[in-house]
Amino acid sequence: MSKVILEVKGVEKIYNPGQPNEVRAVKGIDLKVHKGDFIAIVGPSGSGKTTFLDILGCLLRPSKGKVIIDGKETERLSEDGLARVRREKLGFVFQQYNLIPTFTALENVSLALRVAGKSKKSAEKRARELLEFVGLGKRLNHPAGLLSGGEQQRVAIARALANEPEIILADEPTGNLDSKSGKQVLELMKWLNLEKGYTFVVVTHDPEITRYSNRVIYLKDGKIIKEIIKKDRRIIRLDRLIK
Ligand SMILES: Nc1ncnc2c1ncn2[C@@H]1O[C@H](COP(=O)(O)OP(=O)(O)O)[C@@H](O)[C@H]1O
Ligand SMILES: [Mg+2]
Repeated sequence: MSKVILEVKGVEKIYNPGQPNEVRAVKGIDLKVHKGDFIAIVGPSGSGKTTFLDILGCLLRPSKGKVIIDGKETERLSEDGLARVRREKLGFVFQQYNLIPTFTALENVSLALRVAGKSKKSAEKRARELLEFVGLGKRLNHPAGLLSGGEQQRVAIARALANEPEIILADEPTGNLDSKSGKQVLELMKWLNLEKGYTFVVVTHDPEITRYSNRVIYLKDGKIIKEIIKKDRRIIRLDRLIK
């Protein structure tokens, strides 16, 4: 069994505790993410998927329980410490892409590298390589806001890879895409997983994702109700995916 790179133990999240509008969004979840996993977390709207992913990604502190990244407990870290863990260990992909629309594709990816302390020149060099890697070598200087949804999501994936994360966390990455570009994005992530060894945790209510993952976790009312572990892993060739 490969190395555990992210573990949560007994995590719970209560929004507005003690208030009339209290919500118990996550009710005690344990999970170990191994290097090389492609985990799909599925469940109906409101089942706690985003809350749980935000806890995994240290974007939200749990009300209870532990988040352990690369063997280190995160609960005593300051906000700056958590930001550093996010920057150095994690990559994020969101439904709305979260790019700066007036910046070019190259500038969006470079920015993530500049924030991590790279020089302008080396950031641009790596950003160019990453964008070529996700099939966007011809779109480097397009403002992100003018790219198609599928292209914007591929820029976001390039940005997520910028600082060599241990894990990429994606929240409904195909939620805003038509089925064809959604499939391209999923297949790109699967290719990065199988051929390049990147680890993914992807949250979605799209049952299609289950075809791409080796583990499928079903959430309901803030709890894991089922997990399916698959043995067969399809090999995908990138040249088929991106024209
Ligand atoms: N910031 C918040 N404050 C209060 N309640 C919230 C907040 N975020 C989410 N919730 C509630 O927590 C529950 C789980 O939400 P969420 O994690 O977004 O589920 P999902 O991503 O599966 O749709 C829902 O009932 C939602 O209304
Ligand atoms: Mg959600």
